[in-house]
Amino acid sequence: MSTGNPVCLVLGAGAGIGGTVGKKFAAEGYTTVLCRRSDEEGLQKLVRDIKSDGGSAHGMMINAIDENTIEDLIVNVERDIGPIEVLIFNLGAQFGDRTLADTTYKTFEMGWRLTSFALFRVAKTLAPLMVARGGGKILVTSATSSMRGNAGQHAHAAAIGGRRLLCQSLNAELASQNIHVCHIVVDAAVEAPDTLGRLLGEELYGKLLAEKANGKDGLVIPEKLAETYYHIAHQHRSAWTQEIDVRPYAEQPWWNN
Ligand SMILES: NC(=O)c1ccc[n+]([C@@H]2O[C@H](COP(=O)([O-])OP(=O)(O)OC[C@H]3O[C@@H](n4cnc5c(N)ncnc54)[C@H](OP(=O)(O)O)[C@@H]3O)[C@@H](O)[C@H]2O)c1
Repeated sequence: MSTGNPVCLVLGAGAGIGGTVGKKFAAEGYTTVLCRRSDEEGLQKLVRDIKSDGGSAHGMMINAIDENTIEDLIVNVERDIGPIEVLIFNLGAQFGDRTLADTTYKTFEMGWRLTSFALFRVAKTLAPLMVARGGGKILVTSATSSMRGNAGQHAHAAAIGGRRLLCQSLNAELASQNIHVCHIVVDAAVEAPDTLGRLLGEELYGKLLAEKANGKDGLVIPEKLAETYYHIAHQHRSAWTQEIDVRPYAEQPWWNN
């Protein structure tokens, strides 16, 4: 099954950032392995799109929070497809705003399992393999709540704020072994029908697109952001970006609003 191409594994590959970053790496000659949880037709469409553009892709349905899923996935991809050169960690706990009263213990724990603990599991499984072969890249999609807490963000901010510090800890230990971890703060709404679209519902999401998309560039466009991911994964190690934030040109950064 190995093509000899470098391999890019995307955890959380919807039609927004995850799948689009996967498409970019496939267009650049990677074999891309796309994983998502519930929309098998959406996954197969991404794989078909990549293949019809001449790229190489595999789709896998997983629930990343299940025991051993991430660990088995990494081992199986390495065995059957090839060594993972780039891992795109794109899982987010997008619950929307929930008051403290509406944030259950289960929600809080789920946020941590999906974002922070899942990255720890990736690192425990993949980093030793990357170290053994002399390098690798782990790019982590993150959000405004990794930088500041806010009303309604108890579970989300605690989980991804912790994940930000996990990225720093991983870099502190692994960068000198040629493992590049980058924490990418997406400080704005994204054209992402499978996440933001579902969260807002058809009407509100349609209104947001009408106000900010379609040539207005007021939402992050996944195809444009994918270029940044590709660039980061190919930086010279004398000048690695370990954290970056992105937002549309007309947005105020998180510390101003
Ligand atoms: N969308 C935004 O406005 C926005 C803004 C700032 C930051 N972000 C960050 O961007 C990342 C997500 O990117 P995106 O919003 O563009 O979404 P996306 O890449 O279009 O989709 C992400 C996919 O992750 C999959 N997923 C969720 N839970 C999973 C699980 N337990 N196991 C396996 N797959 C799972 C979902 O698959 P299924 O659909 O099949 O369930 C979902 O489609 C998150 O880290 C989020 O914090 C997003």
